[in-house]
Amino acid sequence: MIAYGFSEYGGPDTEHLFDLPVAEPGPGQILVAVHAAGVNPADWKVRAGNRKDTVQITLPAVLGREVSGTVVAAGSGVVDFPIGDHVFGATDAGFGGYAQYTVLNASSTAHKPEAVSWAAAATLPVAAGTAYDALQRLHPVVGDSILVLGAGGGVGSAVLQLARADGIDVLAVASVGKREWIESLGAEFVESGPDFVDAISRPVTGIVDLVGGATLRAAATAVTAGVPIVSVADPVSAAQFGGSGVERDRSTAAFARLADLTASGVLCPRIDHVFPLERAGEALALVENGHVLGKVVVEVR
Ligand SMILES: NC(=O)c1ccc[n+]([C@@H]2O[C@H](COP(=O)([O-])OP(=O)(O)OC[C@H]3O[C@@H](n4cnc5c(N)ncnc54)[C@H](OP(=O)(O)O)[C@@H]3O)[C@@H](O)[C@H]2O)c1
Repeated sequence: MIAYGFSEYGGPDTEHLFDLPVAEPGPGQILVAVHAAGVNPADWKVRAGNRKDTVQITLPAVLGREVSGTVVAAGSGVVDFPIGDHVFGATDAGFGGYAQYTVLNASSTAHKPEAVSWAAAATLPVAAGTAYDALQRLHPVVGDSILVLGAGGGVGSAVLQLARADGIDVLAVASVGKREWIESLGAEFVESGPDFVDAISRPVTGIVDLVGGATLRAAATAVTAGVPIVSVADPVSAAQFGGSGVERDRSTAAFARLADLTASGVLCPRIDHVFPLERAGEALALVENGHVLGKVVVEVR
């Protein structure tokens, strides 16, 4: 099969198309013919070696952690995902998504509703799932106002959609090119930049951070002390302000809930950039640039 990955830790120059054997699914695993793969910042961070302590890989490694596809084989013990089913999920440890075939852990796989496109389904496990888990952790209630840092990216835009659907007021920090879209999602736009905290128009009851570093520290310093903070980009800085990271739920039940929210229109992943597998490097470069709008997808078949 054709797959896109990297041969050693480093920059984009370590990325290649590979010709690899198709894996056999082990117990509890399914093999899928990939239709689409989501592209995330974690992909280049793994390639760069930033995740060596937490993500175990064997080189050469295939990039990508989430796909949608059709089940073509199932390992022992898998009963819920027979051959031919349309599914999406998080790839199992050691397997990448930018490939014609990949292996999913059945316990991190859900069925793709007909109403959800292959591309949209491929973006749910990482970005939408992280957004859902971050809001579960922050637990805002109707009447709360939350500040979202990095609101126009994959996770941020899903946070906006989920929060607004629950009646939460959102102040969304992003670059000016994303203003119109953010406002169309029902959030108040706050332009990012060195003085963005001056434009925060009212008190907030919580912060969801998808940027980290100086941006998170500026926001945390500006808001009332003790306001809860969750950060998926920089849990260490968040902890300095009494905040936390986000524990992920990659279960079938969690992914099925995301599928329902997408089928019902609550979640509507914006996918402006779709690249064929042969051009997966361009897809990842766009995300690595750090200012993407919505989600980027690699379309495999
Ligand atoms: N722990 C986890 O499980 C987990 C899961 C998913 C993601 N993450 C992390 O969460 C972060 C966000 O992920 P993502 O998928 O949403 O990334 P993304 O799609 O690349 O979006 C990041 C967004 O941040 C914005 N941004 C960059 N610098 C900014 C600044 N100074 N102020 C305000 N906004 C800024 C970017 O656009 P503009 O500046 O152009 O507005 C972009 O829209 C990444 O660090 C990722 O690794 C962690």
